[in-house]
Amino acid sequence: MTLQRLVSINDLSKDQATALLQSANAFLELSRRPVRKAPTLRGKTVLNLFFENSTRTRTSFELAGKRLSADVVNISASASSVKKGESLKDTILTLNAMHPDVLIVRHSASGAAQFVSQYTQAVVVNAGDGTHEHPTQALLDAFTILQHKPSLTGLKVAICGDIAHSRVARSNALLLSMLGADVHLAGPRTLLPADLGALGCATHERLEPALQDADVVMMLRIQLERLGGVYFPSLREYSRFFGLNAQRLAQAKPDAIVMHPGPMNRGVEIGNDIADSPQCVALEQVEAGVAVRMAVLYACSRLGQSDSDPS
Ligand code: NCD
Repeated sequence: MTLQRLVSINDLSKDQATALLQSANAFLELSRRPVRKAPTLRGKTVLNLFFENSTRTRTSFELAGKRLSADVVNISASASSVKKGESLKDTILTLNAMHPDVLIVRHSASGAAQFVSQYTQAVVVNAGDGTHEHPTQALLDAFTILQHKPSLTGLKVAICGDIAHSRVARSNALLLSMLGADVHLAGPRTLLPADLGALGCATHERLEPALQDADVVMMLRIQLERLGGVYFPSLREYSRFFGLNAQRLAQAKPDAIVMHPGPMNRGVEIGNDIADSPQCVALEQVEAGVAVRMAVLYACSRLGQSDSDPS
């Protein structure tokens, strides 16, 4: 399986997504060994270009590359020549001249990853572009669900919160629907995007109908940094109607899992009782993140290598 780019979930066929999830199993196993290293990507160069803050995504891409023996270089915008006024295009042309194999990019502008892909021969992986997409997050979420449920087919997945500004919601809606899940999006009317119809999911302006008999409950952070106006009266009010607590979660199936991509705002979209309960798999998602990103880097780095190439 070879990936030309991963800017959107739409870059993947169902078979490719399934193959990535399958190969991530082996990488999860490798990550649990005492020696977490394989020579698979020796001689390959991975650039991790982050224009936005990140803990999980950035660290897991770095570890994924290092565990596969790639040369990984982290570049954060705050420490780069972007601060001296260099444009995104010139930054990419500069990095491209150093022959990277994979360029991972996170940026606050929707469409940035697609833009970047025009100026590099490297395989571009979108690590989150504005409110658009975050495909590897959706893959790691699907992988985590499959650690608990035999299949995604027919599973009721409730994605709740700030849908309008969430690249996680968008990529998950596309991927989980493609893999057969019944995806429900729930949030205040002001945080449901106008183009929801294009995602083909059921939508709700209250949590309850989404939570009813759900197999998976995914809670999202309010993207305060992307909110230009007033979308709800106060965080307290938001939490009262859209925060996940034990009483609300009781509407889901008894064996439902609770997910959160992080970072969590405890007391806003999720209560401490739920965040710290065994039903919440947020840290499993983090572990899965490394394995899935190893699978993605492996698929990206195979480009230009014929199957008979012994190296
Ligand atoms: C998400 C992101 O950055 O889009 N976090 C992540 O990648 N794990 C979600 C968020 O910031 O709320």
